[in-house]
Amino acid sequence: MSAKEAYNQWDLEHSWHPFSQMQEYCSWPLLQVERGEGCWLWDTEGNRYLDSNASIWTNTFGHNDPDLNAALQDQLGKVAHSTYLGLSHPLAAELAHRLTELAPEPLQRAFFSDNGSNAIEIALKLSYQYWQLTDQPQRKRIIGMEGGYHGDTVGTMAAGSSGRFHERFSEWFPENWHFPAPRCHRLAGKILEEDATQSLQCLERYLQMEADNVACLVLEPFVQGAAGMVQQPPGFLKSVEQICRRFGIHLILDEVFVAFGRLGALYTCTEESVEPDFLCLGKGIGAGYLPMAATLVREAIYSAFLGKWEDDRTFFHGHTFTANPLACSVALKNLEKLQELIRSGQLDKTIKVFGQALSESFNGHPNVSEVRQYGLSATIDLQPIAGAKAWPESARMGWRICLAARKNGLLLRPLGNSLLLVPPLIIQPDEIDFLCRQTLLSMDEAIADYSGPLQASHMPTGTPSASL
Ligand SMILES: Cc1ncc(COP(=O)(O)O)c(C=O)c1O
Repeated sequence: MSAKEAYNQWDLEHSWHPFSQMQEYCSWPLLQVERGEGCWLWDTEGNRYLDSNASIWTNTFGHNDPDLNAALQDQLGKVAHSTYLGLSHPLAAELAHRLTELAPEPLQRAFFSDNGSNAIEIALKLSYQYWQLTDQPQRKRIIGMEGGYHGDTVGTMAAGSSGRFHERFSEWFPENWHFPAPRCHRLAGKILEEDATQSLQCLERYLQMEADNVACLVLEPFVQGAAGMVQQPPGFLKSVEQICRRFGIHLILDEVFVAFGRLGALYTCTEESVEPDFLCLGKGIGAGYLPMAATLVREAIYSAFLGKWEDDRTFFHGHTFTANPLACSVALKNLEKLQELIRSGQLDKTIKVFGQALSESFNGHPNVSEVRQYGLSATIDLQPIAGAKAWPESARMGWRICLAARKNGLLLRPLGNSLLLVPPLIIQPDEIDFLCRQTLLSMDEAIADYSGPLQASHMPTGTPSASL
């Protein structure tokens, strides 16, 4: 057996992949990624693919970036890991300083962790404990917005509302309530449709009755990624902040997806001068290199946790690899490079090219019912023909197209009958052109090839509603 055959066999016999129906996965062609350079990944067979989902929305400066590699290697020569429980290290101290210095002024504390779910779970627990420490223990309820996705831990599942992903666990959830999302459709810098009235009115009405029992409101600002890049109108975030202030509940912003340049800015809340109580960061903070996340917290909330040991105000939460020095070294270099990418206007230019290319390629296409784009995040909603109902779930059209895309040099992820495009921040105009052309080609091929429910042997991996 060759080494490559052995990898496939070990994968099939022993791996369990996230968000994947393994019975299907094991019957589909396997793809093992071996190396990367810039926006490209190569498999063990030597085939090259454009990383069109930035390795699950994490990658900022491409793969194998010389600056990030050098930062990592430098730290590797010092120490790979040392605990942050009761000890510190220079890189985490500097990272906490830089992240808070750039954040809205009240956010002066960084609590590190190692993935987006944890960043939100920490904010939820801090909010819950804060209300206990300040004599309002009845404030337990979490408010989320319909379509929200905040991770897969129990608290974050309760804050989210992503249908089949989490429904079966709902009896385990802490108390929660969700308000309707607003409507907004942006493409190439233009707002084509917007309406937040019903969403905001519903939230206000609920808080008029229930505010005293609510701990916090959790929101993905501007774009709900996993819902299919569902957007919010300008001013919506500011209105939500004002409502939270009026009713005295915490505002937790989940910027795990939208921060670190994904929508064009380092943090998105600063775009509307919003000052959340908690700002949760993940994905792009680690440049797509190493697991890293942070929960930025208001100093006033932090102060409520101070006291003598026996006062029992301590926040008992932590992870073994919290503030891992290697991850911090990459995050610091990533932050420095990102500030320059934004300051130089380069990121804005790339976003314009991306928006224009998407608009020209997909807007009005008979198989596209809607294309939404904000920053370097986009969704293409697909349809069989203009005006027709979408394919049944069993058609697995998103996955069919992603399988065809592999043959055409793209790694894409679907969401049901939609395609999500989320490239690395340094994607070049010719690569954007390649992405659009090959996506169109893959759509044409897969749709022409479709003749009924998919046989497992045609398909790559995952279920349509579990296709993050
Ligand atoms: C907005 C948002 N929050 C939280 C998460 C969870 O992050 P992680 O997968 O790192 O736990 C995700 C993941 O996609 C996300 O998009």
